[in-house]
Amino acid sequence: MKTPKESLTVVTDMVLPGDSNPLNNLFGGELLARMDRACSIAARRHSSRIVVTASVNHVAFNKAVPIGSVLTIEAKVSRAFTSSMEVYADVWIEDRESGEKTKANEAIYTFVAVDRTGTPVKVPAIKPETPLEIERYEGALRRKQLSLVLSGRMKPSEANELKALFLESN
Ligand SMILES: CC(C)(COP(=O)(O)OP(=O)(O)OC[C@H]1O[C@@H](n2cnc3c(N)ncnc32)[C@H](O)[C@@H]1OP(=O)(O)O)[C@@H](O)C(=O)NCCC(=O)NCCS
Repeated sequence: MKTPKESLTVVTDMVLPGDSNPLNNLFGGELLARMDRACSIAARRHSSRIVVTASVNHVAFNKAVPIGSVLTIEAKVSRAFTSSMEVYADVWIEDRESGEKTKANEAIYTFVAVDRTGTPVKVPAIKPETPLEIERYEGALRRKQLSLVLSGRMKPSEANELKALFLESN
């Protein structure tokens, strides 16, 4: 049994002109790649295995990130299933003078631990500790079901926890 904290991966880097879109903000694909790398390290730390990206379940580009920003990505495994892991990336930019950090974006990835032939292998279970870790852990099964339904790997009728969410909100 491991904790999310053990997988925590913090990557701080600058946004340079070559990373930008025509509005001189960070290009979305560049941010996706940076988040993917940070999350893959978190998944590797949790599983001690080779990991591959299975899906990007959610990305919110809430705030543009200007060139010159110092960007910090915090990635942490929020839940481990059998061979797959949900990994959250929280993205922050910091004010040059005060050093204060503002949340810019977040994303949720699914990684799968595999052996050298690419066959999925088991990963350790995880026990969330903080209130936010518990909230993310509890929502992860629904997000996994949604991702499997959207990718055609699960029938909607089999996604019981996901369906319950919609029934509860009626
Ligand atoms: C991801 C991959 C290993 C899954 O292999 P598979 O033979 O389909 O294996 P399974 O069906 O047993 O799925 C393995 C796990 O992945 C999960 N999974 C697969 N696709 C998923 C998706 N779209 N969303 C969420 N989870 C997914 C399954 O639910 C299962 O999880 P569990 O073992 O924790 O229950 C395989 O599809 C693969 O290698 N894909 C390419 C990965 C890659 O190259 N990524 C980089 C992209 S450039």
